[in-house]
Amino acid sequence: MKYNFDELINRRGISSVKWDVKDNELPMWVADMDFSAPPELLKAMKDRIDNGTFGYNLVDEEWKDAYINHWAKRGLKFNRDEIIFSTGVIASISSIVRRVTEVANNVVLLTPIYNTFFNSIVNNGRHPLESEMIYKDGTYYIDWEDLETKLSNEETSLFIFCNPHNPTGRVWTKDEIERIGALCNKYNVTVISDEIHCDLLKPGVSYTPFASVNETNANISITTIAPTKTFNLAGIQTSAIVCKNKKLMHLVDRGLNTDECAEPNTFALLAPKVVFNECDEWLNELNIYIDENRKYVRDYINNNLKDYVKLVEGDALYLLWLDLSKITHDSKEFCDFLRKETGLYLAEGIKYRGNGFEFLRMNIGTQKERVKDAMERLSKGIKLYLKKN
Ligand SMILES: Cc1ncc(COP(=O)(O)O)c(C=O)c1O
Repeated sequence: MKYNFDELINRRGISSVKWDVKDNELPMWVADMDFSAPPELLKAMKDRIDNGTFGYNLVDEEWKDAYINHWAKRGLKFNRDEIIFSTGVIASISSIVRRVTEVANNVVLLTPIYNTFFNSIVNNGRHPLESEMIYKDGTYYIDWEDLETKLSNEETSLFIFCNPHNPTGRVWTKDEIERIGALCNKYNVTVISDEIHCDLLKPGVSYTPFASVNETNANISITTIAPTKTFNLAGIQTSAIVCKNKKLMHLVDRGLNTDECAEPNTFALLAPKVVFNECDEWLNELNIYIDENRKYVRDYINNNLKDYVKLVEGDALYLLWLDLSKITHDSKEFCDFLRKETGLYLAEGIKYRGNGFEFLRMNIGTQKERVKDAMERLSKGIKLYLKKN
């Protein structure tokens, strides 16, 4: 490997949300990796700092072209007038919710799903309408009948799609994406396709951009994309919105402007240009490293914990979804116990709703040494938990 993902970086004392924990604690909850950003980016940032000035920034064509070229390789083709800057995916989604739906409208989601979507809906006085997925043989499937019922509800105006899906790691098929598009179109429902995790894939796997499959999907959707999950840049606050429907794009653009999330800071503009243009090799190696971590967890569970834990094998994300239904129906209580007794801090599945009350989410975007430590702590925690109960 050209890049060193094994290096243990001390992230304490830098105001990291993830690492603001006790000395003995190992945080593996929030979606934030423990790896350094690519050296190519660090160098470009240092060079930019050397200029010494930090005035207002222009969203230039170079920034647009970096996104255009990166997603063209993934099958999503768009022009410069079909992409705009936003400070973050959640900022975009909240703004879009306010612009394309009315107060009290339903926003449909496939649950369990990334919890912050609920905030974007509820905090704006809209109603999240869950279409809970069917969990069968360790995989999640869309309940099509239920989804159609929820989309056809007269109060439904928006569907938020997570592609690939956080927390289950599901990479949706082209057929599924076409079918969702057809249903949303039938009931006049706009789609936000959040594709922030789309580059974090098992080696050899590819994903299907929602807007790429046909004209209908392109016409009814707004796609949110960013380099922040992939290259570990969340603190830089940078993302983009792609929309091929001019009228919809105008609405979204006005929304971002009035919500004041359309202005990039210096690094928000620089980072996507560097990582999308220069860091393919870093990304390939990252995905290999994460896959090795995934394999380690899978083997550890099979060898030591298979009576208690089942790994839901998605093809994407550095987040693992662990089925603990054999030992708990209250993932929050288990999570708190695990943290208190062993210091391992995972995310309780209940916050993703659906059947998440029996699951935990584990972030393996970290060094192998920490993943090994985590599995020992999980094993110890389960034994203590079973003894207690
Ligand atoms: C599906 C999904 N969307 C959005 C975000 C957050 O994006 P941002 O930091 O750009 O608001 C996350 C973070 O974990 C996520 O998992």
